[in-house]
Amino acid sequence: MDRIRVIREQDARGGLEMDDNVGTSGHVPVMLERVLELLGPALSGPEPVVVDANLGLGGHSEALLAAFPSLRLIGIDRDPFAIDFSTRRLAPYADRITLVHASSGDLAQVIAEAGHTTVDGVLFDLGVSSPQLDEAERGFAYSYDAPLDMRMDTEQELTAEVVVNTYPAADLVRILRDYGEERFAPRVAGLIVKERAKEPISSTKRLADIVRDAIPAATRRTGGNPAKRTFQALRIEVNAELSALEAALPAALDALALGGRVVVLSYHSLEDRLTKQALTARTKDTSPPGLPVPLPAHQPRFRLLTRGAELPGDEELARNPRAASARLRAAERIRVDD
Ligand SMILES: C[S@@+](CC[C@H](N)C(=O)[O-])C[C@H]1O[C@@H](n2cnc3c(N)ncnc32)[C@H](O)[C@@H]1O
Repeated sequence: MDRIRVIREQDARGGLEMDDNVGTSGHVPVMLERVLELLGPALSGPEPVVVDANLGLGGHSEALLAAFPSLRLIGIDRDPFAIDFSTRRLAPYADRITLVHASSGDLAQVIAEAGHTTVDGVLFDLGVSSPQLDEAERGFAYSYDAPLDMRMDTEQELTAEVVVNTYPAADLVRILRDYGEERFAPRVAGLIVKERAKEPISSTKRLADIVRDAIPAATRRTGGNPAKRTFQALRIEVNAELSALEAALPAALDALALGGRVVVLSYHSLEDRLTKQALTARTKDTSPPGLPVPLPAHQPRFRLLTRGAELPGDEELARNPRAASARLRAAERIRVDD
């Protein structure tokens, strides 16, 4: 597992330093109370284990560790800055945490390497973190001029610049349409290909200008910034976000002990659709129709804890506008495999 770096912070020295670029005061973990309420019943045993598959600034993790004094936590993030930051933030809990620089796509391997065969809870808080969006040089935001980067894992090779300047037009159209739900995908891709032939596109501002010029003027006047959809699409491609989730969610469900719970916070319809499909598939009775008695082997191993997707309340939205697109789904293991 050479891609996975395990950090065990055994000495509780440190805490957050004054010169950290990121403070935690403005950072509010999304739907925190609901997350604690949903995971709580699974974390009441003598030494429960939870995986935070999207550690970020460690906000949810810190609250979990504070709420459940015997909890052991495995925190995963593909962004090395998130691991470094959370290592310092969670230093008071150093003897109960294992923080791992990895993709959640490697969830099963991470759990095994941490020495567990099952876990009691898994939390996914998908998408980008506030510092990824707010630090201009990460290249995620169309509102700042910066190199076209968008890598969550700054150690990987693929950047948004590579995608924009080297992918064939047909692939750009597919990415913009499928991951950005951009209805003008062929026009945007066409202008990208034309412009990159003059000079490589290397900045967020130039890309945002190209997108704006490609979108018909009448459409530009409605909705938000036209670059939003293209930037989302490129971010998903660069970070292989959907394939990571496709691998991670089944692995999380497989790893849950009896009574274990998974909670997923997603931020766009593609993530939420994948989550809904993965949870629904495991909570259905798959007995062939017409049988007089249900077959045990076909009984669902999980039950849904949420009806549809739950949304943040008005009060949270007033405090934290970034929670606006959040959708929460959760499930519990009710049977183990025979
Ligand atoms: C919304 S933030 C999490 C915030 C966190 N819950 C908190 O309270 O501070 C999402 C984090 O997930 C990470 N991430 C996204 N996709 C990932 C993946 N496939 N594997 C591991 N981490 C991922 C990002 O780097 C980012 O730090």
